Amino acid sequence: MSRTVFLINGPNLNLLGKREPEIYGIETLEDVTARCTALAQDAGLALEAMQSNHEGAIIDMIHRARNEAAAIIINPGAFTHTSIAILDALNAYDGLVFEVHISNVHKREPFRHHSYVSARADGMLAGFGVQGYELALRRAISLLG
Ligand code: DQA
Repeated sequence: MSRTVFLINGPNLNLLGKREPEIYGIETLEDVTARCTALAQDAGLALEAMQSNHEGAIIDMIHRARNEAAAIIINPGAFTHTSIAILDALNAYDGLVFEVHISNVHKREPFRHHSYVSARADGMLAGFGVQGYELALRRAISLLG
């Protein structure tokens, strides 16, 4: 069985640390990825991180996960609230899926309250800042053993 975790970030998350820091904080996606990579390595897992502003690229990555990853940690950004196609791709994947949102989407505008991805996710974290990625990874590590 694969010992790789895919960390997938959707649109605008490449601007983490620069975009609306009062909501998303000042740490960059590179900071988050470096911390998660180290945490995964300590647990004997590999981490492959990707970010894309394009829905199709995210779907292609989820298809790759079917053969290459034991778990997906995904922050789909605004696609969370719109993308049945990402949900369908995740439904075609058998491994663990954890959904992460940096902000507490339920405390924000009503259009952020619904997530298509939550219909598939094994767990979801919202409002823990960028620490949510590490918390999700810790959960994946404990389940993967
Ligand atoms: C987000 C919340 C989404 O509503 C938003 O579109 C994002 C980021 C979060 O991490 O809090 O891009 O997924």
